[in-house]
Amino acid sequence: MKALILSGGRGTRLRPITYTSAKQLVPIANKPILYYVLEMVAAAGIREAGVVVGETQQEIRMAVGTGGDWGLKVTYIEQEAPLGLAHAVKIAQPYLGSDPFVMVLGDNILRDGIASFVDEYQRVRPNTQILLSKVKDPQRFGVAGLQGDRVYSLEEKPKVPKSDYALVGVYLFDHTIFEAVGAIRPSQRGELEITDAIQYQIDRDYVIIPHVVTGWWKDTGRLEDLLEANRLILDTLESRVEGRIDTHSVVEGKVVIEGGAELVRSTVRGPAIIGRCARIVNARIGPFTSIGAETEVVNSEVVDSVIMEQVKIVDIEGRMGESLIGKNVQVYRCSSSSATLRLMLGDNSQVGIS
Ligand code: G1P
Repeated sequence: MKALILSGGRGTRLRPITYTSAKQLVPIANKPILYYVLEMVAAAGIREAGVVVGETQQEIRMAVGTGGDWGLKVTYIEQEAPLGLAHAVKIAQPYLGSDPFVMVLGDNILRDGIASFVDEYQRVRPNTQILLSKVKDPQRFGVAGLQGDRVYSLEEKPKVPKSDYALVGVYLFDHTIFEAVGAIRPSQRGELEITDAIQYQIDRDYVIIPHVVTGWWKDTGRLEDLLEANRLILDTLESRVEGRIDTHSVVEGKVVIEGGAELVRSTVRGPAIIGRCARIVNARIGPFTSIGAETEVVNSEVVDSVIMEQVKIVDIEGRMGESLIGKNVQVYRCSSSSATLRLMLGDNSQVGIS
Protein backbone atom coordinates (compact mmCIF):
# COMPACT_ATOMS: atom_id res chain seq x y z
CA MET A 1 0.00 0.00 0.00
CA LYS A 2 1.23 3.51 -0.82
CA ALA A 3 0.82 6.60 1.33
CA LEU A 4 -0.18 10.04 0.16
CA ILE A 5 1.19 12.70 2.49
CA LEU A 6 -0.15 16.21 2.04
CA SER A 7 2.45 18.90 2.66
CA GLY A 8 1.14 21.86 0.72
CA GLY A 9 -1.17 24.54 2.11
CA ARG A 10 -0.40 28.06 3.26
CA GLY A 11 -0.50 27.62 7.02
CA THR A 12 -2.37 30.91 7.47
CA ARG A 13 -3.22 30.07 11.07
CA LEU A 14 0.48 29.98 11.99
CA ARG A 15 1.55 33.26 10.44
CA PRO A 16 4.08 34.86 10.61
CA ILE A 17 6.05 31.63 11.15
CA THR A 18 4.63 30.24 7.90
CA TYR A 19 5.71 33.23 5.78
CA THR A 20 9.19 31.76 5.86
CA SER A 21 8.62 28.14 6.77
CA ALA A 22 6.23 25.36 5.79
CA LYS A 23 3.77 24.59 8.59
CA GLN A 24 4.70 20.91 8.39
CA LEU A 25 8.30 21.80 9.27
CA VAL A 26 7.59 23.66 12.49
CA PRO A 27 9.46 21.68 15.15
CA ILE A 28 7.88 19.85 18.04
CA ALA A 29 10.43 18.71 20.60
CA ASN A 30 13.01 19.99 18.09
CA LYS A 31 11.84 17.72 15.28
CA PRO A 32 9.70 18.83 12.32
CA ILE A 33 6.08 17.72 12.55
CA LEU A 34 6.36 16.09 9.13
CA TYR A 35 9.07 13.74 10.44
CA TYR A 36 6.60 12.30 12.96
CA VAL A 37 4.19 11.73 10.08
CA LEU A 38 6.86 9.97 8.00
CA GLU A 39 7.69 7.81 11.03
CA MET A 40 4.01 6.87 11.46
CA VAL A 41 3.77 5.93 7.79
CA ALA A 42 6.96 3.85 7.86
CA ALA A 43 5.89 2.13 11.10
CA ALA A 44 2.71 0.98 9.33
CA GLY A 45 4.89 -1.06 6.96
CA ILE A 46 4.51 1.33 4.04
CA ARG A 47 7.50 1.75 1.76
CA GLU A 48 6.31 4.19 -0.92
CA ALA A 49 4.95 7.65 -0.25
CA GLY A 50 3.77 10.41 -2.55
CA VAL A 51 4.35 13.79 -0.91
CA VAL A 52 2.07 16.51 -2.26
CA VAL A 53 3.86 19.86 -2.19
CA GLY A 54 2.98 23.44 -3.03
CA GLU A 55 4.63 26.83 -2.58
CA THR A 56 6.96 25.53 0.12
CA GLN A 57 8.15 22.58 -1.92
CA GLN A 58 11.81 23.50 -1.91
CA GLU A 59 11.97 23.40 1.85
CA ILE A 60 10.00 20.18 2.08
CA ARG A 61 12.20 18.51 -0.54
CA MET A 62 15.31 19.62 1.36
CA ALA A 63 13.98 18.27 4.66
CA VAL A 64 12.66 14.93 3.38
CA GLY A 65 14.98 14.16 0.46
CA THR A 66 14.49 10.71 -1.00
CA GLY A 67 12.73 9.50 2.16
CA GLY A 68 15.56 7.00 2.66
CA ASP A 69 16.04 8.10 6.28
CA TRP A 70 12.65 6.52 7.01
CA GLY A 71 13.06 3.55 4.69
CA LEU A 72 10.61 5.19 2.28
CA LYS A 73 10.77 5.87 -1.43
CA VAL A 74 9.32 9.35 -1.72
CA THR A 75 7.87 10.79 -4.93
CA TYR A 76 6.97 14.48 -4.95
CA ILE A 77 3.68 15.53 -6.50
CA GLU A 78 3.26 19.22 -7.26
CA GLN A 79 -0.04 20.90 -6.55
CA GLU A 80 -0.16 24.23 -8.36
CA ALA A 81 -2.32 25.84 -5.67
CA PRO A 82 -3.89 24.73 -2.37
CA LEU A 83 -7.17 23.71 -3.97
CA GLY A 84 -8.20 21.19 -1.34
CA LEU A 85 -7.55 17.70 -0.05
CA ALA A 86 -9.74 16.10 -2.71
CA HIS A 87 -7.83 18.04 -5.36
CA ALA A 88 -4.61 16.53 -4.01
CA VAL A 89 -6.11 13.05 -4.40
CA LYS A 90 -7.14 13.90 -7.96
CA ILE A 91 -3.69 15.00 -9.08
CA ALA A 92 -2.07 12.03 -7.33
CA GLN A 93 -4.12 9.46 -9.27
CA PRO A 94 -1.38 8.70 -11.85
CA TYR A 95 1.04 8.05 -8.98
CA LEU A 96 -1.39 6.01 -6.87
CA GLY A 97 -2.80 3.84 -9.64
CA SER A 98 -5.63 1.49 -8.67
CA ASP A 99 -4.35 0.10 -5.37
CA PRO A 100 -5.75 1.20 -1.99
CA PHE A 101 -3.80 3.94 -0.24
CA VAL A 102 -3.64 5.83 3.03
CA MET A 103 -3.79 9.61 2.95
CA VAL A 104 -2.25 11.50 5.85
CA LEU A 105 -2.21 15.25 6.42
CA GLY A 106 1.37 16.39 6.99
CA ASP A 107 0.50 18.35 10.13
CA ASN A 108 -1.51 15.67 11.95
CA ILE A 109 0.05 13.44 14.58
CA LEU A 110 -1.46 10.54 16.48
CA ARG A 111 -0.03 9.09 19.64
CA ASP A 112 -0.59 5.52 18.54
CA GLY A 113 0.37 5.99 14.90
CA ILE A 114 -1.61 4.53 12.01
CA ALA A 115 -0.42 0.92 11.79
CA SER A 116 -3.54 -0.59 13.38
CA PHE A 117 -5.85 1.36 11.03
CA VAL A 118 -3.88 0.28 7.99
CA ASP A 119 -4.11 -3.35 9.19
CA GLU A 120 -7.82 -3.05 9.86
CA TYR A 121 -8.41 -1.58 6.41
CA GLN A 122 -6.52 -4.43 4.77
CA ARG A 123 -8.52 -6.99 6.73
CA VAL A 124 -11.96 -5.48 6.23
CA ARG A 125 -11.44 -3.89 2.81
CA PRO A 126 -14.20 -1.28 2.82
CA ASN A 127 -14.14 1.37 0.11
CA THR A 128 -13.21 4.04 2.62
CA GLN A 129 -12.13 4.06 6.22
CA ILE A 130 -12.21 7.29 8.20
CA LEU A 131 -10.77 8.06 11.60
CA LEU A 132 -12.75 10.05 14.13
CA SER A 133 -11.84 11.71 17.37
CA LYS A 134 -14.12 13.26 19.97
CA VAL A 135 -13.40 17.00 20.25
CA LYS A 136 -14.72 19.98 22.19
CA ASP A 137 -14.95 22.28 19.16
CA PRO A 138 -16.26 20.21 16.23
CA GLN A 139 -17.08 23.39 14.25
CA ARG A 140 -13.39 23.64 13.36
CA PHE A 141 -13.25 20.26 11.61
CA GLY A 142 -14.98 17.89 9.27
CA VAL A 143 -17.75 16.32 11.38
CA ALA A 144 -19.44 12.93 11.09
CA GLY A 145 -23.14 12.34 11.61
CA LEU A 146 -23.35 8.90 13.25
CA GLN A 147 -26.13 6.40 13.81
CA GLY A 148 -24.54 3.73 15.94
CA ASP A 149 -21.54 2.60 13.92
CA ARG A 150 -22.90 3.96 10.65
CA VAL A 151 -21.76 7.27 9.18
CA TYR A 152 -24.74 8.93 7.51
CA SER A 153 -23.19 12.33 6.84
CA LEU A 154 -19.95 14.25 6.74
CA GLU A 155 -19.85 18.02 6.83
CA GLU A 156 -16.89 20.36 6.62
CA LYS A 157 -16.78 22.88 9.48
CA PRO A 158 -20.55 22.87 10.15
CA LYS A 159 -22.08 25.71 12.17
CA VAL A 160 -24.38 23.18 13.84
CA PRO A 161 -22.37 19.96 14.14
CA LYS A 162 -24.27 16.67 14.12
CA SER A 163 -21.84 15.14 16.63
CA ASP A 164 -18.62 15.78 18.57
CA TYR A 165 -16.69 13.48 16.28
CA ALA A 166 -14.13 15.26 14.12
CA LEU A 167 -12.50 13.76 11.07
CA VAL A 168 -8.88 13.02 11.83
CA GLY A 169 -6.48 13.78 8.97
CA VAL A 170 -5.91 10.10 8.12
CA TYR A 171 -8.05 8.39 5.49
CA LEU A 172 -7.88 5.00 3.79
CA PHE A 173 -9.28 4.73 0.29
CA ASP A 174 -9.60 2.33 -2.60
CA HIS A 175 -9.79 3.43 -6.24
CA THR A 176 -13.49 4.37 -5.94
CA ILE A 177 -12.45 7.66 -4.35
CA PHE A 178 -11.26 8.91 -7.76
CA GLU A 179 -14.82 8.86 -9.11
CA ALA A 180 -15.92 10.91 -6.07
CA VAL A 181 -13.16 13.54 -6.28
CA GLY A 182 -13.93 13.89 -9.98
CA ALA A 183 -17.61 14.52 -9.36
CA ILE A 184 -17.68 17.07 -6.53
CA ARG A 185 -17.61 20.87 -6.88
CA PRO A 186 -15.50 23.37 -4.87
CA SER A 187 -16.84 24.37 -1.44
CA GLN A 188 -17.51 27.91 -0.22
CA ARG A 189 -13.83 28.25 0.72
CA GLY A 190 -12.99 27.41 -2.89
CA GLU A 191 -11.53 23.98 -2.16
CA LEU A 192 -12.38 20.47 -3.30
CA GLU A 193 -13.17 18.98 0.10
CA ILE A 194 -12.36 15.35 0.85
CA THR A 195 -15.34 15.49 3.22
CA ASP A 196 -17.63 16.15 0.24
CA ALA A 197 -16.00 13.34 -1.74
CA ILE A 198 -16.71 10.86 1.07
CA GLN A 199 -20.27 12.22 1.38
CA TYR A 200 -20.63 11.48 -2.35
CA GLN A 201 -19.64 7.88 -1.55
CA ILE A 202 -22.10 7.70 1.37
CA ASP A 203 -24.90 8.88 -0.94
CA ARG A 204 -24.08 6.07 -3.36
CA ASP A 205 -23.89 3.33 -0.72
CA TYR A 206 -20.19 2.71 -0.88
CA VAL A 207 -18.89 0.97 2.24
CA ILE A 208 -17.49 3.55 4.66
CA ILE A 209 -16.27 2.45 8.05
CA PRO A 210 -15.47 4.83 10.86
CA HIS A 211 -12.86 4.13 13.48
CA VAL A 212 -12.72 6.16 16.67
CA VAL A 213 -9.14 6.83 17.77
CA THR A 214 -8.49 6.34 21.46
CA GLY A 215 -5.02 7.84 21.92
CA TRP A 216 -4.51 11.57 21.43
CA TRP A 217 -4.59 13.17 18.01
CA LYS A 218 -3.40 16.67 17.16
CA ASP A 219 -3.87 18.81 14.09
CA THR A 220 -1.01 21.24 14.67
CA GLY A 221 -2.33 23.99 12.41
CA ARG A 222 -2.98 26.46 15.26
CA LEU A 223 -0.75 27.79 18.02
CA GLU A 224 -2.74 26.26 20.90
CA ASP A 225 -2.70 22.84 19.27
CA LEU A 226 0.95 23.07 18.38
CA LEU A 227 1.85 23.86 21.99
CA GLU A 228 -0.36 21.02 23.16
CA ALA A 229 1.38 18.63 20.74
CA ASN A 230 4.70 19.88 22.06
CA ARG A 231 3.58 19.10 25.61
CA LEU A 232 2.36 15.63 24.65
CA ILE A 233 5.47 14.71 22.67
CA LEU A 234 7.89 16.08 25.26
CA ASP A 235 6.18 13.89 27.81
CA THR A 236 7.08 10.80 25.77
CA LEU A 237 10.82 11.56 25.57
CA GLU A 238 13.39 9.68 27.55
CA SER A 239 15.95 11.69 29.50
CA ARG A 240 19.30 12.05 27.77
CA VAL A 241 22.17 14.39 28.54
CA GLU A 242 24.78 14.92 25.84
CA GLY A 243 25.58 18.54 26.62
CA ARG A 244 27.31 20.12 29.61
CA ILE A 245 25.64 20.99 32.90
CA ASP A 246 27.63 23.08 35.37
CA THR A 247 27.57 22.31 39.08
CA HIS A 248 25.29 25.27 39.82
CA SER A 249 22.56 24.03 37.51
CA VAL A 250 19.62 21.76 38.31
CA VAL A 251 17.85 19.40 35.94
CA GLU A 252 14.56 17.85 37.08
CA GLY A 253 12.24 15.34 35.40
CA LYS A 254 12.37 14.21 31.77
CA VAL A 255 14.95 16.39 30.10
CA VAL A 256 16.96 16.01 26.91
CA ILE A 257 20.10 18.10 26.60
CA GLU A 258 21.52 17.67 23.12
CA GLY A 259 25.20 17.64 22.20
CA GLY A 260 27.16 20.88 22.56
CA ALA A 261 24.44 22.51 24.66
CA GLU A 262 25.47 24.21 27.87
CA LEU A 263 23.65 24.95 31.12
CA VAL A 264 25.19 27.55 33.37
CA ARG A 265 23.62 28.46 36.75
CA SER A 266 20.24 27.39 35.37
CA THR A 267 17.27 25.17 36.15
CA VAL A 268 15.58 23.00 33.56
CA ARG A 269 12.32 21.37 34.62
CA GLY A 270 11.11 18.58 32.41
CA PRO A 271 9.59 17.63 30.25
CA ALA A 272 11.87 19.80 28.15
CA ILE A 273 14.47 19.63 25.43
CA ILE A 274 17.50 21.86 24.99
CA GLY A 275 18.81 21.76 21.44
CA ARG A 276 22.27 21.25 20.05
CA CYS A 277 24.74 23.99 21.02
CA ALA A 278 22.09 26.02 22.89
CA ARG A 279 23.32 28.16 25.81
CA ILE A 280 21.19 28.52 28.89
CA VAL A 281 22.69 30.98 31.36
CA ASN A 282 21.19 32.01 34.65
CA ALA A 283 17.80 30.96 33.33
CA ARG A 284 14.82 28.78 34.12
CA ILE A 285 13.44 26.57 31.39
CA GLY A 286 10.33 24.40 31.42
CA PRO A 287 8.26 22.53 31.98
CA PHE A 288 6.91 21.72 28.49
CA THR A 289 9.49 23.71 26.61
CA SER A 290 11.56 23.05 23.50
CA ILE A 291 14.64 25.17 22.96
CA GLY A 292 16.08 24.98 19.44
CA ALA A 293 19.66 24.50 18.37
CA GLU A 294 22.08 27.38 18.97
CA THR A 295 19.50 29.35 20.91
CA GLU A 296 20.58 31.43 23.89
CA VAL A 297 18.44 32.08 26.94
CA VAL A 298 20.09 34.40 29.44
CA ASN A 299 18.64 35.83 32.68
CA SER A 300 15.16 34.77 31.64
CA GLU A 301 12.44 32.22 32.29
CA VAL A 302 10.69 30.29 29.53
CA VAL A 303 7.85 27.82 30.12
CA ASP A 304 5.37 25.95 27.92
CA SER A 305 6.83 27.16 24.62
CA VAL A 306 8.47 26.22 21.35
CA ILE A 307 11.57 28.31 20.70
CA MET A 308 13.19 27.60 17.36
CA GLU A 309 16.85 27.87 16.30
CA GLN A 310 19.33 30.68 16.84
CA VAL A 311 16.99 32.71 19.00
CA LYS A 312 18.28 35.08 21.69
CA ILE A 313 16.15 35.65 24.78
CA VAL A 314 18.05 37.92 27.12
CA ASP A 315 17.22 39.71 30.40
CA ILE A 316 13.47 39.22 30.20
CA GLU A 317 13.21 39.14 33.99
CA GLY A 318 9.54 38.09 33.84
CA ARG A 319 8.33 34.77 32.54
CA MET A 320 7.67 33.95 28.91
CA GLY A 321 5.07 31.25 28.24
CA GLU A 322 2.68 29.77 25.66
CA SER A 323 4.93 31.19 22.96
CA LEU A 324 6.11 30.09 19.56
CA ILE A 325 9.24 31.90 18.49
CA GLY A 326 10.66 31.56 14.96
CA LYS A 327 14.29 31.28 13.90
CA ASN A 328 16.71 34.12 14.59
CA VAL A 329 14.27 36.12 16.71
CA GLN A 330 15.70 38.33 19.45
CA VAL A 331 13.78 39.18 22.59
CA TYR A 332 15.71 41.38 25.00
CA ARG A 333 15.36 44.14 27.53
CA CYS A 334 16.45 47.47 26.08
CA SER A 335 18.55 49.91 28.00
CA SER A 336 16.32 52.99 27.71
CA SER A 337 14.88 53.95 31.09
CA SER A 338 11.39 54.86 29.82
CA ALA A 339 8.77 52.12 29.82
CA THR A 340 8.81 51.92 26.05
CA LEU A 341 8.51 48.69 24.12
CA ARG A 342 10.83 48.52 21.16
CA LEU A 343 9.45 46.12 18.58
CA MET A 344 10.22 44.96 15.09
CA LEU A 345 7.53 42.42 14.23
CA GLY A 346 6.63 40.82 10.91
CA ASP A 347 3.11 40.94 9.47
CA ASN A 348 0.59 38.98 11.55
CA SER A 349 2.87 38.71 14.58
CA GLN A 350 1.21 38.45 17.96
CA VAL A 351 2.55 40.00 21.16
CA GLY A 352 0.88 39.55 24.53
CA ILE A 353 1.89 42.01 27.25
CA SER A 354 0.86 41.82 30.88
C1 G1P B 1 -8.86 19.37 7.25
C2 G1P B 1 -10.13 18.67 6.80
C3 G1P B 1 -11.06 18.43 7.99
C4 G1P B 1 -10.33 17.65 9.07
C5 G1P B 1 -9.01 18.36 9.44
C6 G1P B 1 -8.19 17.47 10.33
O1 G1P B 1 -9.20 20.67 7.71
O2 G1P B 1 -10.76 19.45 5.80
O3 G1P B 1 -12.20 17.71 7.57
O4 G1P B 1 -11.16 17.51 10.20
O5 G1P B 1 -8.23 18.65 8.29
O6 G1P B 1 -6.97 18.06 10.68
P1 G1P B 1 -8.25 21.95 7.40
O7 G1P B 1 -6.99 21.73 8.17
O8 G1P B 1 -8.04 21.99 5.93
O9 G1P B 1 -9.03 23.14 7.91
